Amino acid sequence: MTRSIEDRLHALGALRAKARAGGGADRREKQHKAGKLTARERVELLGDPGSFDEIDPFVVHRARDFGMDDESNAIPGDGVVAGVVRVEGRPVFVFAQDFTVFGGSLSETNAAKICKLMDLAMKVGAPVVGLNDSGGARIQEGVVSLGGYADIFLRNTLASGVVPQISAILGPCAGGAVYSPAITDFILMVRGTSSMFVTGPDVIKTVTHEDVTKEALGGADTHAAVSGVAHIVADSDADCLQKIRSLLSFLPSNNREDPPRRENGDPADREDPELDRIVPASPNQPYDMIALVKRITDDGELFEIHADFAKNLVVGFARLGGKPVGIVANQPDHLAGVLDIDASVKGARFVRFCDAFNIPLVTFEDVPGFLPGTKQEFGGIIKHGAKLLYAFAEATVPKITIITRKAYGGAYCVMSSKHIRTDFNFAWPTAEIAVMGAEGAVNILYHREIAAATDPAAARQAKIAEYDEAFANPYVAARRGYVDDVIAPRTTRPRLIRALDLLGNKRDVMPPKKHGNIPL
Ligand code: HXC
Repeated sequence: MTRSIEDRLHALGALRAKARAGGGADRREKQHKAGKLTARERVELLGDPGSFDEIDPFVVHRARDFGMDDESNAIPGDGVVAGVVRVEGRPVFVFAQDFTVFGGSLSETNAAKICKLMDLAMKVGAPVVGLNDSGGARIQEGVVSLGGYADIFLRNTLASGVVPQISAILGPCAGGAVYSPAITDFILMVRGTSSMFVTGPDVIKTVTHEDVTKEALGGADTHAAVSGVAHIVADSDADCLQKIRSLLSFLPSNNREDPPRRENGDPADREDPELDRIVPASPNQPYDMIALVKRITDDGELFEIHADFAKNLVVGFARLGGKPVGIVANQPDHLAGVLDIDASVKGARFVRFCDAFNIPLVTFEDVPGFLPGTKQEFGGIIKHGAKLLYAFAEATVPKITIITRKAYGGAYCVMSSKHIRTDFNFAWPTAEIAVMGAEGAVNILYHREIAAATDPAAARQAKIAEYDEAFANPYVAARRGYVDDVIAPRTTRPRLIRALDLLGNKRDVMPPKKHGNIPL
């Protein structure tokens, strides 16, 4: 029997409609009532309007046990919507777990779709965005589902440093399933509707007798501020997808491309006299480094990463003369900008991301040193602090450092100093580059002399003034060439943009090796 093309197109349309319906109207409504969008709505919002090209909409599961023989269980697409969208015209591969189909759980074929997508993304050199909303391994498929997870973990690992990988958590993400997002470059979570944990509250109650809610254990704010697992928090699905688009605007599509340039109206030669007065005269008075950075970047923009975690170090993306840069900045407004375990890990990961994807690093330095105390020492500040040092030293992208005030002790070396092959190191006249601050130094060097003085307080003040005169300035370092120039703060933006232009063709190499051994 022959069938007309009209019949065939009709059959195709019916099958597509079935795929689009996912788990059905009731489950879609339940999803909306829970404050979440459906997988397809999310994909549409991520991409430029009408840009979604779907892959594998007709794939169904292969399970035959536990009542899965029923034909009504074979939902086209099998719980994950996959394909390519354009974001500002550039291709981005996306998969969105569909919670309306078996709770978005991962089956053999569902995993195969994700792997196929990732393989293609690697071939063409485009980012992968995973929109996670899933009950985890498809229980009916047992080990086959677990194998599917491992297949994805391998691809996440191989793609790391080749194409940017972004994970949004838009519902549950539990058990071993968390490890795919964990390997990717950025995790975004939505307040109130998303959660991530290796074991949930019930298991915790049984094993450790701790009482904890799902939100407190693995909600967005917990992971953004306490564990540091989440890099960005959003207030809704739509907000999250918009934030992914903004993030992508700073990133190249792959490790062989430069990040995309975006022209804007902010003049490259713009000076800012306010910067001359931004650093307080007293070395112990805080100021907001974010406000300082925003006075320098194009249009006052800074897209912060890990904004709520280890606030003593600020990291994020900005543009200078239209070119994306990675900003790393000590924050005197929080813990005096000291480096601790969390700040070191936060900074190291960001620096390595920028280095992998050809994003120049601009470091703003005002750091009194590493945080003292048993909590830090027992927690391994030695190995964690070393990560930041290693990451800066290893980075071969253009690197520029501005010392605004303190550059004390080991932290001076770590924060992209000249010695670890930073290309341009500039200091403001307010810079103090020394082993430590005046008070600490005087206490160590002159405590006997001060104690023996007829007026110990006056003797102490005199020694502090002497030390300040000798060390609390940038010129000792400048005389040695450890800083390339001491610049008026107001000229920082034009100077940075000229230096970045100069470094546009920078090439630096690493000695041949399989990979280094960063102190993990
Ligand atoms: C198959 C699943 C499923 C799963 C949910 N569903 N999880 N189907 N495999 N893992 C189905 C439900 O049967 C239900 O089907 C629908 O999805 C929605 O689930 P509900 O329970 O009604 O939704 P809700 O009340 O919102 O609860 C969501 C949930 C809960 C918290 C995710 O479903 C849940 O606890 N699921 C099991 C989670 C889990 O233990 N997964 C395995 C973890 S181990 P109907 O037909 O009623 O709509 C793991 C290992 C990964 O993932 C290993 C990697 C190495």
